[in-house]
Amino acid sequence: MYGGDKSVKKKFQWPIFDDSDVSAVTQVAQSGQWGNPDCGGLVEKFEKEFAAYCGSKYAISCVNGSVALRLALIASGVKPGDEVIVPPYTFIATATIVIEANCVPVFVDIQPDTYNLDPSKIEAAITPRTKAIIPVHFAGQACDMDAIMVIARKHNLFVIEDTAHAHGGEYKGQKLGSIGHAGCFSFQSSKNLNAGEGGLVVTNDEKLFHMMNSLRNVGRVKDGQWYEHHYIGCNYRITQFQAALLSQQLTRLEAQTRLRNENGIYLNTLLGNIEGIKPLTRGHGETLHTYHLFIFRYDKSKFHGLSKKEFSEILAAEGVPCFMGYPKPIYEQPLFQKKNFMCYAIPDYVDYSDVHCPVAETACYEEAIWILQHAMLGTTDDMDQFANAIKKIQDALKEGAVRKVLTAE
Ligand SMILES: Cc1ncc(COP(=O)(O)O)c(C=O)c1O
Repeated sequence: MYGGDKSVKKKFQWPIFDDSDVSAVTQVAQSGQWGNPDCGGLVEKFEKEFAAYCGSKYAISCVNGSVALRLALIASGVKPGDEVIVPPYTFIATATIVIEANCVPVFVDIQPDTYNLDPSKIEAAITPRTKAIIPVHFAGQACDMDAIMVIARKHNLFVIEDTAHAHGGEYKGQKLGSIGHAGCFSFQSSKNLNAGEGGLVVTNDEKLFHMMNSLRNVGRVKDGQWYEHHYIGCNYRITQFQAALLSQQLTRLEAQTRLRNENGIYLNTLLGNIEGIKPLTRGHGETLHTYHLFIFRYDKSKFHGLSKKEFSEILAAEGVPCFMGYPKPIYEQPLFQKKNFMCYAIPDYVDYSDVHCPVAETACYEEAIWILQHAMLGTTDDMDQFANAIKKIQDALKEGAVRKVLTAE
């Protein structure tokens, strides 16, 4: 940041592809069948492959992960004014798709050591209007699905797993996304399985599958006419290019996930030995962690009061692909504070000005630092270098070196 050599010189590649990916896309180009109005062909082929990979009966692809969540929620049968429980520490789409279904997101805080939805706080948020829960397997760490499914069964709630970070991850040996009523994936560029953009829902529920199939194809139904529309759907179909690329990328996913998982376990041990650094914990039923993000909690009191923002910028300048993450919990975004709900039918009583989820706030403002997934595909030597970079900053702060530069600036 202030001159000198970077601790980590390697550039981490993402996406990873070779001639097989280029050839798959070229073949689509040459076939002239770029789109897929019937969602058959390569699109259906990929859906079947991904459903089988997850151990689910059905898969419906669509344009992105947000739309995947939207399709699952609308197809679940929610009505205007119904409430949906979501975590506040996630990408905004987990909550905005609820608004887009004319429903009310209700924020329940996360656990301090996993940053996943805290099951012990869910029941207090349930009202007669609650119809669904969207647990997010944040960073690729499985949520406590046993506890969540017990609560869901007790209160008759629909469970949509937000699996945007967790392709190939497992909870007690079961692929994430296949445990709730629906599991929603994103294939946007940064994701562990990627086609530039894209999304998909897996489910075992045949009725839900048919409804989502119709909704993503302008409300058409099986065996219906082309200009015959039964539901309020839209054109959310993916192209044959995306499907071809996804099928190809899927052949690498399991090995990549296992490598990230191994590196994560190793990096946990290394960082656990540094004062003021606490990686999020394992041992909550995750049999495979996807490390879409490797998250550690930063304690500035052990780094001479350096803010987490400054620290993450210095660490990135040292060559560790990292980021300070979300600047605030979702409910603090202007959208919620100013009730900018536009045309959506959100009841007047809804007000987010008094919502506080202390764990999510601490994660955003004080603690959370993310190392990005492509860096977790490195070697154990790379993991050693990440840990050394953190130690180097800590030592420099002890000697007053970084502080001197910051003060001089
Ligand atoms: C947790 C989570 N859910 C949903 C999404 C939405 O996916 P997409 O960007 O493909 O719409 C994302 C994307 O970043 C995400 O991180």
